[in-house]
Amino acid sequence: MGLTLKPLTRHIGAEASGIDISQLPTPESARAIEQAMDRYGVLVFRNQPLDQDQQIRFAQSFGPLDLGLRKIKGGPHRFKYAELADISNVMVDGEVAARTHAKIVGNVANQLWHSDSSFQRPRAKYSMLSAVVVPPKGGETEFADLRAAHDALPVDLRERIKGLVAVHDALHSRAMLGDTDYTEAQRQAIPPTQWPLVQTDPRSGRKILYVGVHAREVLGMTVAEGRMLLMDLLEHATQRQFVYQHHWQVGDLVMWDNTATLHRGRYFDFAERRELRRATTEEVVTSPEAMALA
Ligand SMILES: [Fe+2]
Repeated sequence: MGLTLKPLTRHIGAEASGIDISQLPTPESARAIEQAMDRYGVLVFRNQPLDQDQQIRFAQSFGPLDLGLRKIKGGPHRFKYAELADISNVMVDGEVAARTHAKIVGNVANQLWHSDSSFQRPRAKYSMLSAVVVPPKGGETEFADLRAAHDALPVDLRERIKGLVAVHDALHSRAMLGDTDYTEAQRQAIPPTQWPLVQTDPRSGRKILYVGVHAREVLGMTVAEGRMLLMDLLEHATQRQFVYQHHWQVGDLVMWDNTATLHRGRYFDFAERRELRRATTEEVVTSPEAMALA
């Protein structure tokens, strides 16, 4: 049986079935998944719980793995692999973290529209998030389609942003949330990087409006004016018609393309346990616009 796809909204997301992702995908299956990602940006595999080894193996079939914020944070880790990100409100000892615990800031930061690791080069390509424990209420994840957002840009805005480049900074969203307690070494672990606001997907050929909360300013503009432009673009890109909202069930694996979509977690009561585990690949071939910048 091959990959079967059921679209979830007009622009973004499809439910994927017909492939057992606990097994290493065949080259044909991996290619079919990549082609589906080019089309839908987000794939939902229901009832496919993965252990850590299976998740790492599945992710590795799509490229080298990304460490993301662990480059800054380091410290104790609940998982066998540093490449697995702990998207939870649970401490290393397995207890739910108190609201004042440093880990909760990360949970709040996840609720801002972002793409994983847009603050580094190479940036993240695919994230694969597996649901282990979900809260009784809330904690959905929303995904916005940056390709459809680009295609729907008003002409004047499209003209205004032509050729513009944004600065992405790993700690910008943290600073917005009052989380500023970082050493100089931590700040330098992931220096800010630059990405064009409009990029062409090297696989699908589609244009992408590459914004998100890690974008801090626009080159050649004052901080204030650039930041306002970024906020306007983010508001445009995250209108409901571009968004798929995922309601988690234990055993879901959701895979998304960080170069073509944004995502955010939604509110849940931090006293409730929410445990998801993420593996992420690095982008290997970037957009021609980004290559021209390097
Ligand atoms: Fe994320």
